[in-house]
Amino acid sequence: MERVYAANPHDSKKTTKEKRKTMTTTLITGADRGMGFELAKELGENGQHVLVGARNQERGMAAVDALREQKINADLILIDVTDDASIVAAQQTIASKFGSLDILINNAGLTLDNWEKPSTLALDKIRGDFDVNFFGLVSVTQHMLPLLRQSTSAKILNISSAVGSLTIASDPTSSVYQHPSFGYQASKAAVNMFTIDLANELKDTRITVNAVNPGWVATDSAVGGGPKTIEEGVARTVELALQPDNTVNGTFSDVDGIVPW
Ligand SMILES: NC(=O)c1ccc[n+]([C@@H]2O[C@H](COP(=O)([O-])OP(=O)(O)OC[C@H]3O[C@@H](n4cnc5c(N)ncnc54)[C@H](OP(=O)(O)O)[C@@H]3O)[C@@H](O)[C@H]2O)c1
Repeated sequence: MERVYAANPHDSKKTTKEKRKTMTTTLITGADRGMGFELAKELGENGQHVLVGARNQERGMAAVDALREQKINADLILIDVTDDASIVAAQQTIASKFGSLDILINNAGLTLDNWEKPSTLALDKIRGDFDVNFFGLVSVTQHMLPLLRQSTSAKILNISSAVGSLTIASDPTSSVYQHPSFGYQASKAAVNMFTIDLANELKDTRITVNAVNPGWVATDSAVGGGPKTIEEGVARTVELALQPDNTVNGTFSDVDGIVPW
């Protein structure tokens, strides 16, 4: 995708804020590494202005510098999704510097429980999974919605997981059934429910809401490594983020198609 403002002869008279408004502005949480960083790179390469969400200034700035070296239009947004004050500050920074938001990719996530028994899994691990993966995602979305409403065509992409699918988790032939991570799974199932309900609420607006399953991807957080590359893991999210017509709403999908809820 070209940077639209570059072709406009009146551009030199526009402010940086006005110029950026003609580009797609995309906030990605947890973008300092893993799939979040790859999303920033690929969407940046496709002409989007990427806001690199990171909770750590140093790691976030290192990611922004690496993107800028590749001529990507990137800015750091400090955001810890478990800290409402940080989310409010991020929202205010985006509002004052860029005016609106076109795409929110709720990517930040972690897994605190690995294949432990649901009968004995410590509550603090379950709460920890929910704090980042669910409550953090909901809070960021709620705070960013006023900025997304300013866009002529906005998207919310929730990075979920097939392990959050009730259908897959209850299928005795699935690997998820064999290796449950109850806290993480429940947090992603809750993300799916938020996706369904928010997509329904916003169906008559210019904002679409979808959940994506990256698959089992070789990142720091993947238990046991994961057979997919990071590039493969972000493929469906990139596809949705670049889709020009923005008609897909209320789905859970991966590169192979629809994933059952
Ligand atoms: N890898 C897989 O196989 C797989 C499969 C299905 C779904 N997913 C989902 O895909 C998403 C990305 O995962 P990944 O594998 O790329 O993970 P990753 O490499 O471990 O990266 C996780 C990112 O989330 C950030 N993060 C964690 N807690 C945060 C908080 N409180 N506030 C803001 N950022 C926070 C991390 O920031 P720091 O650098 O500061 O820690 C990091 O940038 C997650 O939602 C994950 O659940 C992954």
